[in-house]
Amino acid sequence: MSFPNLQTFEYLNEEHHMIQQAARDFAQKEVAPIAAEFDESGEFPLATIRKMGQMGFMGIEMPEEYGGAGMDTMAYVLALEEICKADASHGTIMSVNNSLYCYGILKYGTEAQKQNFITPVASGEKVGAYSLTEPMSGSDAGTMRSRAVRDGDFYVLNGRKSWVTSGPVAELIVVFMMTNPEQGHRGVSAFLVDADTPGFSRGKKEPKLGIRASATSEINFEDCRIPVENRLGEEGEGFKIAMSVLDAGRIGIATQALGIAEAAYAASVEYVREREAFGKKIGQFQGISFKLADMKTRIEAARGLIHRAALAKTRAKQTGERYTLEASMAKLFASEMAMFVTHEAVQIHGGMGYSKELPVERYFRDAKITEIYEGTSEIQRLVISRLETGLR
Ligand code: CAA
Repeated sequence: MSFPNLQTFEYLNEEHHMIQQAARDFAQKEVAPIAAEFDESGEFPLATIRKMGQMGFMGIEMPEEYGGAGMDTMAYVLALEEICKADASHGTIMSVNNSLYCYGILKYGTEAQKQNFITPVASGEKVGAYSLTEPMSGSDAGTMRSRAVRDGDFYVLNGRKSWVTSGPVAELIVVFMMTNPEQGHRGVSAFLVDADTPGFSRGKKEPKLGIRASATSEINFEDCRIPVENRLGEEGEGFKIAMSVLDAGRIGIATQALGIAEAAYAASVEYVREREAFGKKIGQFQGISFKLADMKTRIEAARGLIHRAALAKTRAKQTGERYTLEASMAKLFASEMAMFVTHEAVQIHGGMGYSKELPVERYFRDAKITEIYEGTSEIQRLVISRLETGLR
């Protein structure tokens, strides 16, 4: 495959530039001014999330008939990057709604499921969530203990799921449970759950280091009966659905890392032009200017991998090919890049980088999660090396 010229971004069309500009304007006007306040309080920013839904940001790749914006993956990453430059918490909620929630239903859902479960989330009326992890099943996702047992025209769901992004507020959730434990990962099935269903409850909200305005919690199922028509895909197909949805999700997390790093870099450039020491602007010292050179180079390398993954995903819609390798490489590199860049940004700012008076310390805290959720860096290395060598 030949790739377009990344330097000129000539593969971006008019629509891409339009959504990028709309997201940038919205993010700088509505999100950036409230980011520090919501980080401090840990409150879920529901009002701005609703507005983002009205702007079409919650289902960018969803067809218009299901409440979405009907655009492609490149449009999604360009818009998400702008939101994450302003605030990674808003970005997390947007990423989960778009890729972990809506995308899986579009790919595997029935017509009725698309109508009933995509439309309210893509249009921003409701918040969606994706629930795979359990207290004893994180990276080893195929070993979950929660059970879904068929009972006539219903499944009865029991179990405890953890680390659910938007868990405290989500109205609609894609949840993965064992229907046949003897079959291991081939015994996992996926279900669409309305949080109003009796037997569904939410656990305590997690106190977190970063992305503090994106609420995370456990969710619990106690004899929660859902109709058979709410099963997503076939029985036993759940693990494959979970993994292929994570391919899409990982492009979103890579983009989040890119947005955080760009914000930290922009703050650093501004600071080194103003701050003086030993009779010079600190940006005139090689020790500082070389840091900026490394930060910028890694940011642009991450952007290249992310755009390549976005193009691979768009192509996959026609060919049905997997883009696992591209997505994992983008997430691995971009998340580690964001940790490097935000660490250097704090160092460049010195004491001010450690102070809550500037957003730099928030960028540093927010970056860390990108190396952990939707598959740790170690899991991405496992996925990439297995695909390259065929060994396991
Ligand atoms: N697309 C489609 N199918 C896939 C796939 C993909 N990307 N990856 C694997 N599969 C299929 C395989 O083909 C295989 O199919 P068969 O049953 O037909 O053989 C099956 O899935 C099992 O694959 P593996 O043998 O590779 O599975 P494994 O048990 O060795 O695990 C793993 C692989 C990569 C470690 C996987 O478990 C994994 O990605 N773990 C990390 C989980 C993760 O990212 N969790 C984050 C949850 S979301 C979150 O963070 C919270 C939030 O709200 C944002």
